[in-house]
Amino acid sequence: MALPPAAGAAAAPVTPFAAQPRGHGGGGLRRTSPAPPAAALRLGPLFWPWEKVKVGPLSVSPMGFGTWAWGNQLLWGYQESMDSELQECFNLALKNGINLFDTADSYGTGKLNGQSERLLGRFIREFEGPIKSPDDVVIATKFAAYPWRLTSGQFVGACKSSLERLQLDRLGIGQLHWSTANYAPLQERALWDGLVEMYEKGLVRAVGVSNYGPKQLLKIHSYLASKGVPLSSAQVQFSLLSMGDEQMELKTVCDSLGIRLIAYSPLGLGMLTGKYDASNLPKGPRSVLFRQILPGLESLLSCLRRIAEKKGKTMSQVVFSCTQYNYASMHRANDGGGMPEF
Ligand SMILES: NC(=O)c1ccc[n+]([C@@H]2O[C@H](COP(=O)([O-])OP(=O)(O)OC[C@H]3O[C@@H](n4cnc5c(N)ncnc54)[C@H](OP(=O)(O)O)[C@@H]3O)[C@@H](O)[C@H]2O)c1
Repeated sequence: MALPPAAGAAAAPVTPFAAQPRGHGGGGLRRTSPAPPAAALRLGPLFWPWEKVKVGPLSVSPMGFGTWAWGNQLLWGYQESMDSELQECFNLALKNGINLFDTADSYGTGKLNGQSERLLGRFIREFEGPIKSPDDVVIATKFAAYPWRLTSGQFVGACKSSLERLQLDRLGIGQLHWSTANYAPLQERALWDGLVEMYEKGLVRAVGVSNYGPKQLLKIHSYLASKGVPLSSAQVQFSLLSMGDEQMELKTVCDSLGIRLIAYSPLGLGMLTGKYDASNLPKGPRSVLFRQILPGLESLLSCLRRIAEKKGKTMSQVVFSCTQYNYASMHRANDGGGMPEF
């Protein structure tokens, strides 16, 4: 999961790029020919392995680690026999500077519900390296807006259950998994109050949302602000397959308000990795989706493959770079420019 740097936000958190020229004219939400973000202007890699970015008060690696697959048999073919390998992946990531781990209380299918949080809790406890400060491992979990979670107290209860599974006293980011505004607006307000309460009780260091559109994001930002709670992050599908106007508007809103955008499914559930084609589909429900979508991606995938071959990188590496640069390149495209040079 990549974190495109927040560009030019008036209230933007301090990043390694803070000293470089800023893009947007700060504050306004209009997209009138902004300069590309600082990250697009500098030479060398987008981030060095030791660099961190701010999510509210937290310092996290620009690339996080998603754990949706942990415990999910239906979509991702998880089996408990995989746990030792998953632990090795966790250890490897943490030792190499990845400190942001994304999970959710709904992750894990059937009897395995909650497994992703449980495994994370175990792996943190059993990690052999030093974990000295809360910034060493930042857990971002998501609380589902289940229809039976109707009060702020129930939402705080959900947070406490996640903390138990994770064996932690305090979370990095507590995120509302999705908005109910369109079908249950009263519940939505209770869930917002739940976020406020968990923040005030010190159960979460930062508060975030997931799957919010730009309009609803503005509303919750202003509601939380009125209660003295900063909205630190917004997680949304953000990949080469999903960067429509709405995503870019959301990015603009995030930049304007100093909210960190967290990109999920950056590899399009695997479609952008080059691992799959019409004759080689993944098992399970993804195959239905991939069969429909992959044929339309042929030219994009062959372009990514050519770049990867030319640069001696994997397609996934090229996809991550393109995703990070896309914000700048879309604006340059408006000005007669195009994709970044590789
Ligand atoms: N907030 C939300 O509603 C929401 C929704 C979706 C996802 N998320 C978060 O975002 C995370 C990532 O998204 P995602 O799992 O949906 O999809 P993704 O990262 O776009 O794609 C996952 C797929 O990419 C493959 N892959 C990953 N790294 C690879 C590499 N280096 N080389 C080749 N293939 C690679 C995986 O292969 P293997 O199967 O072989 O590992 C898997 O098939 C989730 O784990 C979750 O934390 C949040």
